[in-house]
Amino acid sequence: MTVLRPVLAGALLTLLVGSAPVFADASRTTPAAASTALAAHPPGAVIASAHDLATQAGLRIIAQGGNAFDAAVAVASTLGVVEPESSGIGGGDFYLLHDGKTGKDVFVDAREVAPAAVKASQYLGADGKLDHDKALDGALSAGIPGAAAGWVYVARHYGRLPLKQDLAPAIAIARGGFPVYARMVSEYAERQDVMRRWPATTAIYEPQGKPLAVDDVLKQPDLAATLQALADHGDAGFYRGEVAKKIVAAVNAAGGHWTADDLAHYEVKLREPLVFDYRGWHIVTAPPPSSGGVALAEMLNILSAWDLKKLDAATRVHLIVEAMRRAYRDRTFFLGDPDFVKDMPIARLTSMAYADQMRAGIAMDKATPSSSLPGAPPPHVGKHTTHFSIIDREGNYVAATLTVNTAYGSGLVAAGTGVLLNDEMDDFALQAGVPNVYGVIGYDANAVKPGKRPLSSMSPTFMLSPDKVVLLGSSGGSRIITNVMRGILGFDDGLTPQQVVTRPHFHHQYLPDEIMLEPQALSDDVVARLRAMGYTLSTRNSTWGIMQAVEWDRRSNTLSGGSDPRNPVGSARVQLQEAKP
Ligand code: GLY
Repeated sequence: MTVLRPVLAGALLTLLVGSAPVFADASRTTPAAASTALAAHPPGAVIASAHDLATQAGLRIIAQGGNAFDAAVAVASTLGVVEPESSGIGGGDFYLLHDGKTGKDVFVDAREVAPAAVKASQYLGADGKLDHDKALDGALSAGIPGAAAGWVYVARHYGRLPLKQDLAPAIAIARGGFPVYARMVSEYAERQDVMRRWPATTAIYEPQGKPLAVDDVLKQPDLAATLQALADHGDAGFYRGEVAKKIVAAVNAAGGHWTADDLAHYEVKLREPLVFDYRGWHIVTAPPPSSGGVALAEMLNILSAWDLKKLDAATRVHLIVEAMRRAYRDRTFFLGDPDFVKDMPIARLTSMAYADQMRAGIAMDKATPSSSLPGAPPPHVGKHTTHFSIIDREGNYVAATLTVNTAYGSGLVAAGTGVLLNDEMDDFALQAGVPNVYGVIGYDANAVKPGKRPLSSMSPTFMLSPDKVVLLGSSGGSRIITNVMRGILGFDDGLTPQQVVTRPHFHHQYLPDEIMLEPQALSDDVVARLRAMGYTLSTRNSTWGIMQAVEWDRRSNTLSGGSDPRNPVGSARVQLQEAKP
């Protein structure tokens, strides 16, 4: 059953179009006049995010006269308050933006950077081996946060409203509180031992001396004050002055080595998005320091020679998995922060000639053992991240993926600021040749260096055809990229956003050499055929990533959205706006 809930009167009408457990086929709800002409602009706005409070915050900002970019700042900052296990002001963000007025796409890289005093040796134990606790928990695991600078940049350069207005919903919710939900509780339980190391962290997450339970109200007055400082003073409110002082003091008291300059010198980087074509779609996606776009291009270039729609289900899965295997072998070997690694072979990896070469090694009826491919490292993995997608009436688009890395980041809240710091340093290859906790082997391109950004999997993506605009992305660590790739294939199959984000996932990442799948992802018959081809399959119930997608169909001039049913607090809402007479 579809839930259609008008929440605004007058010229605006908001419809909840994708929120678990709304069924897939129900996601196209926008009334439309059928027409063969292509609409010049959407009939309103659509937002899909991992928390309904954030979705609603973004739509309210648009109702107040803001554009998609203002809404993105409202959604991102609100997610940082209501989804602290996934992202926040202590983390880092990627924004893929399309400016409807100029037609230009830009990638805003607000990823964390390594502090100036970083040394790879800091992450080794007394035995000389990589100490995963140092890489993942507490002060040493945190990179200099980029999220706040990203919000200020997007608001100032692309938004229409004052930053203060964009941040107001997040500040109000941080101050007034919101009800805790099941995912927050279960992920807190996983990180509880680490969170309990710091009184400033437990004061927030265990205010009564025990972990928060579902429906408890979480208020974060210190975080509200920090957001207010950002609203009042822009970058200086976070990266200089009292907030910065408290963050540096807290990190150093917990064993880190940050200076005031580390924060004061943080800079957002603008990058050219990575673009390629797939079977009539123009794909615009994340360049390094994300590994996502390069891997997407390699996989989809390989697959583009087949019409997957015409293949039987087992052969289709086989070919998709073989493309995943090859792209994941390549992706971490060569890639890193482009400001440090100047010789990345991006043109070669994303070329059709390379795809032809990769395709030639795929047998139609047999799995290729990963061990038979020339060596390369296993992939880089992160666990907890969030994605949102926005289209507004003016034809601006935002696909944004935000992270603190693993659940609740480093677990360290800087006392007096409410800022929960990330553990993004684990996304570097911290020790050469030695797998980290996620199986990553270190290579030079992603070695840790002062001021460098760690390699990411985050892949905010646009798919454009003559009559459709689709925005998608996912959380899920190394599965982000295959989720997005399978999402692209789903849209190419003609699925709705809700169908795409609902479909069960399968994934292969070169090593371990197995197809990981969600329960019931493949039929018994397909599983039997894949086994006969030589595959090992492993069903996993663990986190697969939460996808959010939106679509503007320019032929019917309809907006639709999909919110991942694996995350019941997420939502996709369309807000129709009457054209001005
Ligand atoms: N920390 C997750 C990612 O950036 O891939």
